[in-house]
Amino acid sequence: MDIAILGYGTVGRGVDQIVADIDGIEVRRILDLPDHCVGPRMTPDYAQIVGDPAIEVVVECMGGLEPAHTFILQALGAGKSVVTSNKAVVAAFFDEFARTAEANGACLLIEATCGGGIPWIASIEKARRIDEVTRFSGILNGTTNFIVDSMLKNGADFAETLARAQELGYAEADPSADIDGIDVKNKTIISASVAFDVACTAEFPVTGIRSLTKADLDLLGATGRVVKLIGHGVARDGRYAVAVEPMALPAASLEANVPSNFNLATLEGTTIGELKFYGQGAGSLPTGNAMVQDVLDFAAGRRPHYDFSRGLTYDPALLTGDYVFRTTTPPEGSEPFGEGAWLVSGITAEAARALLDSIVTTDQNAFMARLV
Ligand code: HSE
Repeated sequence: MDIAILGYGTVGRGVDQIVADIDGIEVRRILDLPDHCVGPRMTPDYAQIVGDPAIEVVVECMGGLEPAHTFILQALGAGKSVVTSNKAVVAAFFDEFARTAEANGACLLIEATCGGGIPWIASIEKARRIDEVTRFSGILNGTTNFIVDSMLKNGADFAETLARAQELGYAEADPSADIDGIDVKNKTIISASVAFDVACTAEFPVTGIRSLTKADLDLLGATGRVVKLIGHGVARDGRYAVAVEPMALPAASLEANVPSNFNLATLEGTTIGELKFYGQGAGSLPTGNAMVQDVLDFAAGRRPHYDFSRGLTYDPALLTGDYVFRTTTPPEGSEPFGEGAWLVSGITAEAARALLDSIVTTDQNAFMARLV
């Protein structure tokens, strides 16, 4: 089977390297910027790919919204299936891509958008053959896990560790997408869409770890907890809710012990109960591996189908909990929780985020975590 790779950065090179050792799959074309094109496979002209009938699958690893959105639609429109690692574009246009694929007898394969090399999307789909997925949660960003883990274990500096994550190819082109939770937001939208069969709203609470300090880790550590950035969702009785937020988790939990850039994603199904998936969440070869697995699945006849017509209602009341705020002035309705921190109990993720927004107007460096 002949494929084309769009984008020859960290992930595109990983795909090319893995495919080189696989019989029956050939990289016929690689799209890159004109001054990066060397050798006969590379072209800066997408028309040479989308107009080539020999290319059955387009492997998009450019990232960003445009031109990825247009190129994916053109490939699907030409009846070519698309494998993508681009969570931003899938989160923004999942429904449009799924409809275009369906209308043209093509497929959209998105394993590499969430959890790097972990077979997370395929596992949700497999669980759903029997079960309703009632809940999911995950450490879905390697960069922030790498940062928190290094701060905790080595007393490392936030900025220095982020720079290292960039060198290792974990971080987004603009790493604020990692530390502000936007990358996890995109992965949460995709996970919820697949898990709950819903065109997941993009309007839900998202909080990152930009203001996390070693003192916060120590304060929560003294209560037997470890902070992780978590994307999660729940569906019940025709309703669903999702959020991205720092969580302070029991130190003995599997999540609390996820090291380096690894990810851990969990689903709960009606008959299977809890399932956890652990592995490398970012980087050239793990992400490339997930994409090549999609290519091989497609070659073997797998045809994922996405339908978001279930019509669940978004209900923030489904995600209620207790939140710790580290700030200079006690928030209304709070009780003390250690040095410079306060606990607000029994509020929704939405209300917690709104409270943080009001706090940062006077204390820009305030931090919030959901207590588990
Ligand atoms: N920046 C992302 C991460 C890359 O750190 O997890 C993989 O999606």
